[in-house]
Amino acid sequence: MKIRRCAVLFIEPREDLGIDWAALFSGAGALSASLRWVALAPHLDRETSIDGDQVAALGAIAQTAWTERADADLQLGAAMVDSLLALGLLLDDGSDANPARERDAVLRAQHWRPLSAAAHMFSRWDGMLVDKGMHFPSFEELVQSYGAPPEPAIERGDSAHAIPLPAAQPGPLDEQLLRRYTGRNYDPAAPLPPEVLARLLQRTFGVQLESMMAQEALVFKKTSPSAGGLHPTEAYVLVRRVPGIAPGLYHYHALRHALEPMASLEPDDAREMARQFVADQHWFVDAPVMVVMAARVARNFWKYRNHAKAYRALMLDAGHLSQTFYLLATEAGMPAFVTAAVNEKAIERAFGLDPLSDAVVAVCGCGVAAAGQTTLELRYEE
Ligand SMILES: Cc1cc2nc3c(=O)[nH]c(=O)nc-3n(C[C@H](O)[C@H](O)[C@H](O)COP(=O)(O)O)c2cc1C
Repeated sequence: MKIRRCAVLFIEPREDLGIDWAALFSGAGALSASLRWVALAPHLDRETSIDGDQVAALGAIAQTAWTERADADLQLGAAMVDSLLALGLLLDDGSDANPARERDAVLRAQHWRPLSAAAHMFSRWDGMLVDKGMHFPSFEELVQSYGAPPEPAIERGDSAHAIPLPAAQPGPLDEQLLRRYTGRNYDPAAPLPPEVLARLLQRTFGVQLESMMAQEALVFKKTSPSAGGLHPTEAYVLVRRVPGIAPGLYHYHALRHALEPMASLEPDDAREMARQFVADQHWFVDAPVMVVMAARVARNFWKYRNHAKAYRALMLDAGHLSQTFYLLATEAGMPAFVTAAVNEKAIERAFGLDPLSDAVVAVCGCGVAAAGQTTLELRYEE
């Protein structure tokens, strides 16, 4: 039997802070710190505490080339090798079912940059309640907690000789640009007309042109730019109130311009799912649709293999799409939102997405505005 180390592994000297009660009562400094090694291996999707001997042993086994198990036993001791195999940090070449080995193979197949894989896998939430489910914090509260924010605009260079520019001339984009705002007060009963949803999806995520760039390399043109022209972002739709489309989960097919049903939902379950998706930000929950943006990483990493900027490009791609989505919603007379404060793991479970290959980036949505403004919004004066 042969063994090797998992493809990606970072080891963090983790500091756990606590109250040292004995020191507190003796009048000494009350903060205690304990240190441990934490193995961050994205294929495992969980943090693993290990000891210093295990750290050293992991450093002695290659991650690409295979090592004979017998040789590793001689070098490190069979018990050590067994412990690391059991944790899934070392992998054997056996043919038995081994979830750690299978997940490691998925990770290797995507061409992730190691730091990006770790950042992605260990920044996902599950069951998170933003602001403890209370409310959207006002700027007054933020200033109270953190003091004044850094200034909103800065001077750089020769500001004494700054060249004044003419005021922006009115232009056709102003209509949408100047009315766009993040809606945080949605009418809980108003539906989203299906033709509005269709236009939003087609003009944000749909294919405007297709081009065969090389044999077997079909490339789409969309209304937003995308790194390498690859458009890895898929749109997964949670439908709540769209006449003619049953509440449920759908995948938007960019080329066919069609919603592929993935699961139907009772309205109450759809509401609960929406709440979980946006980490209990109740100001978004009444939106009649939400669109999850999830990057099919293999599509981007096909070109940008093990690339330092590839993950950043995925985030930027989704950002561009969300602005396009906002502007189309504005055109339809509605506010929109985008949020990265999402419970990725709940979304992955709902749509059956593997975070190593389909990276949930953000959730956007839109809908008819409610009459009042209970939660803060930044609207232009009418
Ligand atoms: C990447 C990103 C993440 C955001 N996340 C949240 C969020 O979690 N909750 C929220 O209420 N708004 C969120 N927003 C909306 C911003 O708060 C909003 O754009 C900002 O307050 C300015 O308001 P405006 O969009 O109306 O101009 C997010 C916006 C962006 C671009």
